[in-house]
Amino acid sequence: MLAGKRVLLIIGGGVAAFKTLTLIRLLRERGAEVVPVLTRAGTEFVTPLSASALAAEKVHTDLFDLTEEAEMGHIELSRDADLVVVAPATADLLAKMAHGLANDLASTLLMATDKRVLVAPAMNVRMWEHPATRRNVAQLQADGVIFAGPTEGAMACGEFGPGRMVEPDEIADAIAAALEGGPLSGRHILVTSGPTHEPIDPVRYIANRSSGAQGTAIAAALAGLGAQVTFITGPAEVPPPDGVTVVRVNTAAEMLAAVEDALPADAAVFAAAVADWRMAAAAPHKIKKLGAGSQPALDFVENPDILATVSQRRSGRPRLVVGFAAETDDVIANATAKRARKGCDWIVANDVRPETGIMGGSENAVHIVREDGVEDWPRMPKHEVARKLAARIAEALAAEAEA
Ligand code: C5P
Repeated sequence: MLAGKRVLLIIGGGVAAFKTLTLIRLLRERGAEVVPVLTRAGTEFVTPLSASALAAEKVHTDLFDLTEEAEMGHIELSRDADLVVVAPATADLLAKMAHGLANDLASTLLMATDKRVLVAPAMNVRMWEHPATRRNVAQLQADGVIFAGPTEGAMACGEFGPGRMVEPDEIADAIAAALEGGPLSGRHILVTSGPTHEPIDPVRYIANRSSGAQGTAIAAALAGLGAQVTFITGPAEVPPPDGVTVVRVNTAAEMLAAVEDALPADAAVFAAAVADWRMAAAAPHKIKKLGAGSQPALDFVENPDILATVSQRRSGRPRLVVGFAAETDDVIANATAKRARKGCDWIVANDVRPETGIMGGSENAVHIVREDGVEDWPRMPKHEVARKLAARIAEALAAEAEA
């Protein structure tokens, strides 16, 4: 139920706007208050009167309504809600949001709000697939905007493909998930992910192999349980998930600084494949080939161990610190030793011998090494490992809170 929750609902100008009227009804049936805002284009598709009648609230339509500014300014309007929802979110609205434009009431509210924003995109398939929209969506995801859809289907314009707004009941479910919070709501969890790149010179670097898939899936699963997630990622292959705060770094030193900046946290999951070494001094210019038979001498120093540094903090240590161990032999023995050496609470250990296909693949088979023993999980998709791990983290934090 959404009793007592207030949703600021921005209705953009698209054919799907008529479905948003159903969304208003569904949200009110679940107990939410809905405050509708119509963009100018939105008023071409639904009338302010229908939105207002269904919401039983005044509809806001114009930025420069002086009476309204005197009664309730746009800043207050944007903050008085528990969640801001944009449905349909047109290509134009997404572009405005991605670029921070604030030239009408809807875009100004979106800039001024301090609440989470959920969008239900709706547009022609070409517009959805256009590189500009791809860039805008990636930016909004990085900003932590929650996406509900779009889905594939026949469109009013006669074309078929992704871009169709999801049905009102699905948007209502996404809104409920965002508002009701899960077992991790109110918890701050940081997750490191991806490789780090340590420059040798301006064009070369050393790195560990890492797609970032497992760390990304873990961050998404934690956010799905309601956690506020800070996702600190090196240059990974997979894009970061929705609904998390993304901090992009390149090197281990930057990753450590970002982790320390993000503390305090209730829990921390270190899934990044951090490079063990960096150049003692990266060359400021491209190192030239020296000629046959002679190679440059590369002088490495050890990188800070982020997991060990955070695990061994005297003050401000997250209550649960989870590390990973990618091993090619003696997986359990090595992971057990690693847990003790680093001082973390759990180690998620996996066998990354090439024949397992785990590295860069979509499945993982892990062992959870804790102080009180080892749990072996069967091979399963990485996102299932993530969901199970997120659920375990939620249980552990809840048990701690009770103790
Ligand atoms: O020592 P090893 O690299 O095998 O340890 C793996 C675990 O330690 C992972 O959780 C990884 O994210 C973390 N780690 C780290 N900083 C490093 C090296 C590893 O946080 N410099």
